Amino acid sequence: MLKDNHGRNINYLRLAVTDRCNLRCFYCMPEDGLNWLSRTELMTYEEMLRSCSLLVKMGIEKIRITGGEPFVRKDIMQLLTSISQLQGLKELSLTTNGVLTAPYVSELKKIGVRSVNLSLDTLDANRFFTITRRDEFANVMAALDALLKHNIEVKINAVVMDGKNTQDIIPLVEMTKDLPVSVRFIEEMPFNGDGHLYTGLQWDYVRILEEIKTKYPQVQKITDPAYSTAYNYQIPGHKGSIGIIAAYSRTFCGTCNRIRITPQGELKTCLYDDGVLNIKNLMRSGTADNELQGILLNAFGNRPKDGWEAEQLRVQHPGIHESMATIGG
Ligand code: GTP
Ligand code: 5AD
Ligand code: SF4
Repeated sequence: MLKDNHGRNINYLRLAVTDRCNLRCFYCMPEDGLNWLSRTELMTYEEMLRSCSLLVKMGIEKIRITGGEPFVRKDIMQLLTSISQLQGLKELSLTTNGVLTAPYVSELKKIGVRSVNLSLDTLDANRFFTITRRDEFANVMAALDALLKHNIEVKINAVVMDGKNTQDIIPLVEMTKDLPVSVRFIEEMPFNGDGHLYTGLQWDYVRILEEIKTKYPQVQKITDPAYSTAYNYQIPGHKGSIGIIAAYSRTFCGTCNRIRITPQGELKTCLYDDGVLNIKNLMRSGTADNELQGILLNAFGNRPKDGWEAEQLRVQHPGIHESMATIGG
């Protein structure tokens, strides 16, 4: 098992395949989008596959594809299919906004994707438009429907925003009555690509749970799966479950098993570091696999203890304006 310098297992890679997105969620990016990476700055599929293959040999067991929005990158199924065939990989999953997802669901099933995380902050089409600045609600719901029909496990991600969608907390919880989904409420983080002024966390996990209890005082804590980012709950009798992700409070650093590769090849050993090396540049300058492996092991042996330490170690610390779309969540 691959371990870091704090004795934590590393077995989970989050690979962001693009910074581009077809939505403009205001907690993630500005209306005009970001300063998109050029094609030469992006990792190629060959480079991504080589990175995944090497890391799986080193002990990575789970790969989550993120973005931006994975399905806006051309021929993404080609990459997913190749990754799904890596010997030793136990789980391939993805996080998507659902806009373009529905037509790909049967192919995802075919290559062995068992679980998909779907971003959906509201069940109201008008509020969806206000939050994402795009009129795509119906397509996201179609994706949800297609995933459930194909028996793919769905986790719904809803970022909780004061004055924007707190009235959706109860309706989203209600979805778990008849649907076998996990609805996860996420604390808003200051990664918005300057899309809006971050005024501090208004809804922490305690407040979110209190809100759920106003309608469902019988909500019960259930066992959290290993390495879960969420505290998990269930309303007795409901088919689905509820999760609360204390992303801002970062209460899960102690068991953090994940590393990230950004669309331009930066390796992040913590969500809050600046990137500790660039795997794409190392590959383009001719670094061989065995040498790369040594460089990666060294990075895993120098991992910050938690998000706070990573922020201290950042070279520049001008407050965080980065977008989740360039980090990959
Ligand atoms: P699984 O456990 O594989 O389902 O993944 P996940 O819940 O981490 O993935 P997902 O992509 O659905 O992300 C859910 C939320 O958790 C997003 O808002 C992420 O940004 C946040 N998140 C994921 N990893 C971390 C982390 O290391 N630190 C913090 N603070 N937030 C994270
Ligand atoms: N705070 C919390 N979650 C965020 N996401 C994107 N930006 C933020 C933010 N500023 C979430 C998306 C997606 C997941 C990968 O990250 O909703 O579901
Ligand atoms: Fe796109 Fe996801 Fe960012 Fe929304 S949160 S703009 S769906 S990358």
